[in-house]
Amino acid sequence: ATDYTTVTDGKLTMISSFAFPPFEYMDGDDYAGFDVDVFKALCDKLGLEPNILPSVAFDTIVPTIKSGGKADVSLAAMTITDERLAEVDMSDPYMDSNQSICVKKGASATDVDSLNVKGTQIAVQSGTTGEAWAKENLPNATIVPLDDIIQAMTGVSTGLYAACVSDLPVVKYEIEQAYSDLEVTVEIPTGEQYGVAVSKDNPGLTSAINNALKEMEDDGTMDSIETTWFGS
Ligand code: ARG
Repeated sequence: ATDYTTVTDGKLTMISSFAFPPFEYMDGDDYAGFDVDVFKALCDKLGLEPNILPSVAFDTIVPTIKSGGKADVSLAAMTITDERLAEVDMSDPYMDSNQSICVKKGASATDVDSLNVKGTQIAVQSGTTGEAWAKENLPNATIVPLDDIIQAMTGVSTGLYAACVSDLPVVKYEIEQAYSDLEVTVEIPTGEQYGVAVSKDNPGLTSAINNALKEMEDDGTMDSIETTWFGS
């Protein structure tokens, strides 16, 4: 397993943005979440040792993977898009997702029409598909890019922003965990799929990851990780 240009010392180095539960977040000093479990299982299949780097801003991940040298892969609940495929390789999909609009319970503006109004502040995470969706579909509102979605939800909770737009499973999970004062008012069926980002310098690694993901689907590893984070 050594024709992977950037993989050294038998370690697969992963970079992500650890404020996107339940996919990736910090549990004290530990890296936790669905993607962390998938990454560890992938390493197991590949016979490589998992090495996770400290959290970075989401919008720096693709450039970092593209430039190589620092990280081999990223699992970041990252939607497979044409823009990203122009910069990095992405594995086969391992998870489906959609977008959502989340507001404070009892808010008067709850749908696209009532939020698409001059002066309305919509929080998003910088560099995400949620940001792109908001810019396209709420052109009259002010789209505010933030470092992470926790900041966005906190801002909706305190009344700083009228709404936030982000991945539905994350927003739902966070509402259950910590934001009972918020609610999803619009589910946006964007039909996104998450993939592992890999440097284009490592075509062999992308296909090895695809094989490993396939094995994990077939042998029940993926199911059991899904059950851990989303229930059965
Ligand atoms: N799925 C969205 C995207 O690919 C959001 C991903 C944000 N991930 C994160 N770890 N913060 O743009």
